[in-house]
Amino acid sequence: MSLLLAIETSCDESAVAVIDDSSGRPLVVDTVISSQIDIHRQYGGVVPEVASRNHSINLPEIVKMLMKRIEYEMDDFSGFAATGGPGLASSLLIGHAMAKGFAVATGKPFYSINHMEGHLLSPFLPSGRSDVPPHLALVVSGGHTMLVDVRGLGQYRIVARTIDDAVGEAFDKVARMLGLPYPGGPEIERRAMDGDVRAFNFPRSLPSKDDFSFSGLKTAVLYTLQKAGFMQGHLPEAEMLNDYCASFQQAVIDSLVKKSLRQVENGSYDLMTISGGVSCNQAIVTALQLRLAQTACEFLPCERQYTTDNAAMIGYTAWLYHQQGKASSLRENINPNLALA
Ligand code: KG4
Ligand code: ZN
Repeated sequence: MSLLLAIETSCDESAVAVIDDSSGRPLVVDTVISSQIDIHRQYGGVVPEVASRNHSINLPEIVKMLMKRIEYEMDDFSGFAATGGPGLASSLLIGHAMAKGFAVATGKPFYSINHMEGHLLSPFLPSGRSDVPPHLALVVSGGHTMLVDVRGLGQYRIVARTIDDAVGEAFDKVARMLGLPYPGGPEIERRAMDGDVRAFNFPRSLPSKDDFSFSGLKTAVLYTLQKAGFMQGHLPEAEMLNDYCASFQQAVIDSLVKKSLRQVENGSYDLMTISGGVSCNQAIVTALQLRLAQTACEFLPCERQYTTDNAAMIGYTAWLYHQQGKASSLRENINPNLALA
């Protein structure tokens, strides 16, 4: 039996999760997330020093809370996992050092997990499958936008990526221009539901290329606002704000769908996944779902609760490596710029 404790502290969420495979499949027993969103919202984004100080306080508390709830002892665990990167250095260090500490104290293995690999594999988390099938993965988060050709666990080739802003970053920056609170994604999605997608004709960048680009779109929103005489402190009224959100979001959707479909057709995939914080966006997921329904490619979106940063995806990824007997060295350090491939 394997019981794994996983910790995620790459950005502003302190998260812990326990994975148990005694049923034959790796399942999430329990998970706790302590969000710092309300703290960072007042700064309009995540302040690294503030994030790490809060992890240092919150993490021990949520580990204690989780252990009390599940009634396990540290010695019951077969391994300890933490996010090793990419992310904010000072935040990563808190979770990484804690998991290493547990591994040293119990003599059990330590697993340093790539945050983006956690996101990439998260669509398979609810079914708890023990193998990673060949597929095309669209990973869209605050720091990354990429299409990955997946051949198996640890076998990744990035076939398209953003050449400038990540999708989540574009959502957050456009939200800021529109005077909407951080994080911008959920706020834009909510307003877009009541807006007109045809109100503004924002660009769909690099239409003939595989790679993505969102900085031109972001700038187009800014110029349109400025041309209409809007600026900080003097913003469009609610109805027009909704139109900005809907038109911006539609431009993002069109780019994501077009480039994903090109890869699906070129690579003859029979499975495509979407994951990462931005995959929380139902308009994006639905657009891909509708388009892929016209192909032979199956679509598996990440379950909503695992789209944004969480420790369950880190635990599940660690469990897959644990099955292969691949633990990390205790000398392994965090890497804020850790690449997926
Ligand atoms: O994966 P994640 O939690 O953290 C990173 O690894 O970056 O992603 C956070 C990003 C933020 O940029 C946030 O605005 C975006 O995901 N996001 C969304 C939505 N919910 C979160 N973007 C679009 N629509 C949403 N509903
Ligand atoms: Zn993330």
